[in-house]
Amino acid sequence: MLMSRRLYFLTSNQGKLREAKHHLASSGWSLEQFSIDGKVPEFIEPQADSLEEVALSKLVQAIALLESQDRSSDAILVEDSGLFIHAFPGFPGVYSSHIFKSLGCTGILSLMGEERSAHFEAVAVLWDGERTRIGRGVCRGRIANDMVEGEGFGFDPIFIPDDLEDGSSSDGKPFGAISISLKHCFSHRRSALDELFNSDDE
Ligand code: IMP
Repeated sequence: MLMSRRLYFLTSNQGKLREAKHHLASSGWSLEQFSIDGKVPEFIEPQADSLEEVALSKLVQAIALLESQDRSSDAILVEDSGLFIHAFPGFPGVYSSHIFKSLGCTGILSLMGEERSAHFEAVAVLWDGERTRIGRGVCRGRIANDMVEGEGFGFDPIFIPDDLEDGSSSDGKPFGAISISLKHCFSHRRSALDELFNSDDE
């Protein structure tokens, strides 16, 4: 198991940061946004087919930056995630952030037909100062007919999670209409972080 300590999360997405902080609140880890001189560094986003490749590429760039700052023993977390709409294989997938900025939720709704199933995926990678760990998470659901205003970020206003076998249900509401605590029952991000933090040392 990983020892609890300070962890720097490389993200400029305040929604992701809030969710990861919420999830790790009782774990003993203290999560802070990764910054250099008060700014979140921007890294080259590789042309890649998988979230894992993107996350690992950003982690390698972040480790190199830490080394140049004499901070190579700092623990750093990178998480890449995306929405996958089954009617359009691979879309928006690794391009979710870009498509969210260009089309937004309303643009996605206008593309949808009868087939509305979709899922979110997340890949979280962590450098603990010595080795890299990885966790993956999936959340299945569907694209809503309409958008809701409220909580969350990104595609939360239009994504309805499937009910879970343990009885967890959003009662047909999108992530954007439920609390962060309830979202965590379903969340791809929470599953990826769970896998990562609960992985045993090899
Ligand atoms: P990236 O991981 O920074 O490339 O961004 C992934 C994009 O996918 C985000 O900007 C959101 O638009 C979308 N996304 C990922 N996870 C979620 C989520 O939990 N809720 C809503 N949108 C998400």
